[in-house]
Amino acid sequence: MKIGLIGAGQIGGALTRRLRQLGHDVAVANSRDPSTLADLARETGAQAVTRTEAARGRDIVIVAIPEAGIRDLPKDLFAGVPADSVIVDTGNYYPQQRDGRIAEIENGMTETRWVSQQLGRPVIKAFNNIYATHLRDRGRPPGSPGRIALPVAGDDPRAKKLVMQLVDDLGFDAIDAGTLDESWHQQPGTPVYGTDHDAAGVRRSLAEAQPERTPQYRATPNSPGSFTSPA
Ligand SMILES: NC(=O)c1ccc[n+]([C@@H]2O[C@H](COP(=O)([O-])OP(=O)(O)OC[C@H]3O[C@@H](n4cnc5c(N)ncnc54)[C@H](OP(=O)(O)O)[C@@H]3O)[C@@H](O)[C@H]2O)c1
Repeated sequence: MKIGLIGAGQIGGALTRRLRQLGHDVAVANSRDPSTLADLARETGAQAVTRTEAARGRDIVIVAIPEAGIRDLPKDLFAGVPADSVIVDTGNYYPQQRDGRIAEIENGMTETRWVSQQLGRPVIKAFNNIYATHLRDRGRPPGSPGRIALPVAGDDPRAKKLVMQLVDDLGFDAIDAGTLDESWHQQPGTPVYGTDHDAAGVRRSLAEAQPERTPQYRATPNSPGSFTSPA
């Protein structure tokens, strides 16, 4: 597939490496000039491109940037891109130590619903609950004992099916986690977050999730602060 990655840090870098290993055509962008991605391009065979180029003409576009960076994306990022194209968000909201306060999320909107609104596009939520190093190194063939499972949430069944297939190709069981408005079940602080469960464990964890944002992942009126020194 032709896959565009916006974000080339821990999660974008891990996905670039694994997707290239699987033989996908990968175009990767960060917030700066593509020349800053020359090493990653040389290592993986991915093309280093601008954000707009990463968004155009792809089967899937994966946005792997901090929540705070979403508002800085070009307003015409998806101009001319078909309305039904598949866009994935890997993001998490870390108000205290990274993203600052985002009022809509504090008021109860799911993180990826907010991303979808900012982008003006339907978005699938995936890859947000696994450490980047585990995503890079812990994929296993289907049927392997203890194979890690990843929840995938979104409103468009066709887009979700394609992303779930990609999750499986990357070495993980894909679990349908419902709609974007239900995707709080896989947000930071929930039982499925960073816990590397198998399929049964992910299903159980999604069911056990509580809608209240845990204090660790909640903004204070003076966010951002840090975990050790909250604002
Ligand atoms: N790290 C993990 O284990 C992990 C796991 C699952 C999900 N996540 C989530 O995935 C997202 C990315 O995390 P990360 O750890 O990969 O972050 P990271 O290592 O800090 O990398 C961030 C990447 O995003 C790019 N970026 C930031 N703002 C941008 C913008 N406006 N336009 C284009 N590119 C932009 C950065 O480019 P520049 O270098 O040019 O600034 C950099 O390539 C976060 O929401 C995070 O919570 C992370």
